[in-house]
Amino acid sequence: MTATHNTTTLPFTGKTAFVTGGSRGIGAAIVRRLARQGAHVVFTYQNSGSDAEALAASVRAAGGQAHAVKADAADAQALSAAVAEAARVTGKLDILVNNAGIFLPGAIDDFSLADFDKTLAVNVRAVFVAIKAAVPLMPSGGRIINIGSTNAHRMPFAGAAAYAMSKSALSGLVQGLSRDLGPRGITINNVEPGPVATDMNPPTGDFADLMHGLMALPRHGTGEEIAGMVAYLASEEAAFVTGAGLKIDGGFAA
Ligand SMILES: NC(=O)c1ccc[n+]([C@@H]2O[C@H](COP(=O)([O-])OP(=O)(O)OC[C@H]3O[C@@H](n4cnc5c(N)ncnc54)[C@H](OP(=O)(O)O)[C@@H]3O)[C@@H](O)[C@H]2O)c1
Repeated sequence: MTATHNTTTLPFTGKTAFVTGGSRGIGAAIVRRLARQGAHVVFTYQNSGSDAEALAASVRAAGGQAHAVKADAADAQALSAAVAEAARVTGKLDILVNNAGIFLPGAIDDFSLADFDKTLAVNVRAVFVAIKAAVPLMPSGGRIINIGSTNAHRMPFAGAAAYAMSKSALSGLVQGLSRDLGPRGITINNVEPGPVATDMNPPTGDFADLMHGLMALPRHGTGEEIAGMVAYLASEEAAFVTGAGLKIDGGFAA
């Protein structure tokens, strides 16, 4: 008997996914990956409208389904409306990926309260807002995945305390919410990357070299590598993983 392989049904066929900050970097790789595996992906952007529309068009040209929505993650009303819009077609939302994030550097003496508030608004409050909007739309089997950071566990440089704090906050959030959502069959986890080559974190230069010196695998990761872990957590195979932080950091925090 030969093994059969069903090539017509992809893992996320019939599923709707919502990704924040999908226009560039890690978020764009996640949009491409989920769409390639059959999901209908709605994703947000803040400023990069043309990148977002180009990404959605390229997914559709490849036979997938993607749709870009402008929504500032710091604007709770806009973000909640975008989540609702994502569920409009199918009436449900199966996968939520909270990826939008910012890194505002600065040592304590110079770091403004405005930058502190902005960091928390995008990296933490928006995650809570999107989850609150998504959960009523999520059936059993729903998946929530936040892009945290290995910096929740190790921050070996000065001038990044607010960012590290914002990513640590997500650890507590998923532990607590795993208890709220477990009885509803919904899992929630953090993917915690180390250095990944994006606009936020260029893979060459003195600072890149410094980071590589701290790593077991001395290189930046790729958005596609992060998207692979997101796809795993979104899959049926990961049904027993919840309340967890999964590091994918080349040994940065080892
Ligand atoms: N790169 C790394 O080394 C690294 C490591 C660990 C964790 N992370 C985390 O991974 C996530 C993605 O990072 P990245 O490196 O891909 O960053 P990036 O290249 O700077 O891209 C950021 C994305 O988030 C969107 N975004 C930012 N602020 C937003 C807001 N207020 N509302 C809506 N969208 C917003 C951007 O949209 P626009 O294009 O419209 O501005 C863009 O699509 C972040 O949470 C980051 O903290 C990154």
